Amino acid sequence: MVFGENTALDVAIEVENLKCKKAFIVSDRDLIKSTDIPEKIKKALGNLCVGIFSDVEPDSGIHIVNQGAKLGVELGADCIVSVGGGSVIDTGKGMAILLKEGGRLQDYVGFQVLTRPQTPHIVIPTTAGTGSEVTYVAVIKDHEGGKKLIFGDYNIVPNVAILDPKMTEGLPPRLTAATGMDAMCHAIEALHSLQREPIADGIALHAIRLIKEFLPKAVDNGKDMKARGQMLIAANMAGIAFSNAQVGLVHALAHSVGAKFKVHHGLANSILLPACLRYNADACGEIYLNVLSALGVNIERIQPDEAGDVLADKIVEFTKKLSLPQKLRDVGVPEKGLKECSEIALSDGAIIYNPKFVTDSTEILRIYQLAW
Ligand SMILES: [Fe+2]
Repeated sequence: MVFGENTALDVAIEVENLKCKKAFIVSDRDLIKSTDIPEKIKKALGNLCVGIFSDVEPDSGIHIVNQGAKLGVELGADCIVSVGGGSVIDTGKGMAILLKEGGRLQDYVGFQVLTRPQTPHIVIPTTAGTGSEVTYVAVIKDHEGGKKLIFGDYNIVPNVAILDPKMTEGLPPRLTAATGMDAMCHAIEALHSLQREPIADGIALHAIRLIKEFLPKAVDNGKDMKARGQMLIAANMAGIAFSNAQVGLVHALAHSVGAKFKVHHGLANSILLPACLRYNADACGEIYLNVLSALGVNIERIQPDEAGDVLADKIVEFTKKLSLPQKLRDVGVPEKGLKECSEIALSDGAIIYNPKFVTDSTEILRIYQLAW
């Protein structure tokens, strides 16, 4: 991990450290259109850059990854430099697999199917939320099947993450807030996961403290470099925490409304978090007291059995201050679509780590309705 203002401009050093010579930048059209960031990185790479693949869309799909990898092979790329948010980084992870292994991305769905290190991958995040620069997971959409596929493998953890607050400076307030809430969900879900463990707990709790303090500042003033930097660190820490502990119900439900109705991942998480906290409350009293404490709430008079509701209310208050939408109906999800989403969410890989076993899609439907 490299941290600091303008450190992204030293990306060539990282390429050389990895003993690579042909870096292939992965980015998205919006970033190229609205900022000079990909161009700056290209310039910083100089002769080490063989080209830019800029066709990544929000919720990147399998066909995009296959297409990008094909181009990378043609250019003889030996290293991927992802410059963007979660969708770009996950596309970069998929391309890193295909540049090494060949074939189509569909052949590598699932967990721990790879047997060797993949193509070297440097990540420069332009959002602070996904934590994908440090995780072993890529989520790629299967547009035909209408669902998100999960690729989980320790061989796809990027080699280098450059956390440069200058790279998130231009992110608009709403995206800053939504991506920041993704990180909040990673941290809270790592804490209540069935696979939680003390090291991830400590990392997640500190991520929550940082998000509580610095997300409102970064939303208020995007040029606040301290807030931007601390949010990059918070998102990174939350990513480390959930890499060990996994995420749960919130993400399972967010993946499915994201795939079906194109709701932004962070936004979906942010809206679904309070309803999921209320659902999990009776299994997580002590954990949610710890979260409340990290959020700066005096927990002396709060009983464990009321902690879930108090925390859900606190999250609602926090996201209202960030001017984020509060209900699924506000972000284009039709009520009649909830039933199908609940059936898809039941088979999402994240749901198995939820602290309460969810075995029936009607339970999920009730949570969706509460958030609708
Ligand atoms: Fe997430």
